[in-house]
Amino acid sequence: MSRHTTDPRSTAVVGLQWGDEGKGKIVDLLAGEHDVVVRYNGGANAGHSVVVGGERFALHLMPSGVLSPGVRSVIANGVVLDPEQLFTEIEALESRGVKLGPLFVSDRAHVVMPYHKAEDQVREAILSGGIGGASIGTTGRGIGPAYAEKVQRGAAVRVGDLQRPDVLAARVRTAIEMKRHLFEAHAASVPRESWDADAIVEQAASWGARLSPSIADTRRLLRDAIDAGERVLFEGANATLLDIDHGTFPFVTSSAPSVLGIGTGTGLPPRSIGRVVGIAKAYQTRVGAGPMPTELLDATGDAIREKGREFGTTTGRPRRCGWLDLVALRYAVEINDVDEIALMLLDVLAGLDELKLCTAYRVDGVETDVFDPDASALAQAEPVYTTLEGFAEDVTQARSTDDLPA
Ligand code: IMO
Ligand code: MG
Repeated sequence: MSRHTTDPRSTAVVGLQWGDEGKGKIVDLLAGEHDVVVRYNGGANAGHSVVVGGERFALHLMPSGVLSPGVRSVIANGVVLDPEQLFTEIEALESRGVKLGPLFVSDRAHVVMPYHKAEDQVREAILSGGIGGASIGTTGRGIGPAYAEKVQRGAAVRVGDLQRPDVLAARVRTAIEMKRHLFEAHAASVPRESWDADAIVEQAASWGARLSPSIADTRRLLRDAIDAGERVLFEGANATLLDIDHGTFPFVTSSAPSVLGIGTGTGLPPRSIGRVVGIAKAYQTRVGAGPMPTELLDATGDAIREKGREFGTTTGRPRRCGWLDLVALRYAVEINDVDEIALMLLDVLAGLDELKLCTAYRVDGVETDVFDPDASALAQAEPVYTTLEGFAEDVTQARSTDDLPA
C-alpha cells in the first residue's frame, strides 16, 4: 500500500528552463510522500543540490530520493550511467553518515565509458576550432557520445553487459576501433588510458561486479510498484529547454528531460505519470552556449549571479543570468502539461529597483508570443518587457501568498 495517500498519483518533477531550477530541493521535499524515486534521463551532467546534515551536497547521478528513509531509488534505462561517479557519490554520502535506502540500476541503462568523456572533449574542441561550428559548452561528462553510442548500437555497453565478459570485451574493442582516427588525430589532448581497451574491459568488469546487487529489471519493478498502488516520483534531470528534440537545438543535451522522456526512459506508459510539477526560477539562467533572449550582461545580471550563487554545481562555471522569460516558460508548461509550478529563488530578486518580465518577443520588428526553440530562430528574438516595481522585503520566511509583496 502507498504511504501518505492524500494524493494517490505518481508525480513528475521537471525543469522548465535551461536547468538548475532547484529540482533537487523539490524532489527532496516530495520524496517522503512517495515509495520510489526514479531518474529516467541524462547522467552525471545533472547537479542537484541537497542539504545533508546542514551541509550542501551535490548529487549528479544518485536520485535525490536516496536521502529519504524508506524510499527506493531507481536509475532507469533512459539514464547514461557513469559507474565511477555513482560510487563516488555513494561513498561521499556514507562518509557523512547518511544511511542510504535501496538503489536499483536498470540492466538496460547505457554505460558512460572513459572514451566517451574523451570524445566529448575532443568534439567540443573541434566545434570551437573555427571550422564553422560552435561548441555547445557541454559538461564534459561524456553524455552526448554515450547516447550516440546507444543510437548507433553495435558498440554500446549496457549495465547488463558489464556482467557478460565476452560481450563487454567485443563492444569496448569495437567502440575504440570506431574512434581510433579521432583519438590518434587528437592524441595530445586524449589521455591514453581513456582508450586502452584491455584496461577498460578489466575496469568495466569490476564495475559490473560492484553494481551486481543493484542491477535489476527496473521496468518490471516500477510496473509492479504502480500496480500495487505505490507512488512513484519521476525525477527529471537537465530541463525542458535542453531537450534533444524540443529544446534550443543544437545547444541542448542528448536526452528528453521533460515528461516526454519518462515513457521511453522507464518503460512505463505515459498514463502512469499523474501529477506534473514544473520547476522554474523567478529569473532565467543558462550554462554553456546558446541563445537566451533575456540575458543580462550588466550589473543587474552580476547581482543576480552573486546573490543566487549561480555557479555550476557540475562544472563550477558562472551561469548566464537574465529576466524571467514567460514566452519560454509557457512553451515549457505546454510541453509538460504542468499542473503546478514551483517558483524558486524569488528571494534573490529582493532589493532590485525594478523587475522585468519578458511577455513577448520581437522578431523582424513584429511582436509574437510564439516560442520557436530552434537556436538560429531564437537568436533573432528580442525580448519585450513589462516592468514591475521591485520589492525589498525578505521573502524567505513567507509561508503563503499573503506573506509576499504585491
Ligand atoms: P540540472 O539537472 C544546467 C547543459 C550544459 C550544456 C548542454 C549540453 O543541474 O538542471 P551535456 O553535458 O548535457 O551534453 O551539455 O546542456 N546542461 C545543463 N545545464 N543544468 C543541467 O542539469 C544541465 N545538463 C546539461 O551546460 O550547455
Ligand atoms: Mg546543473
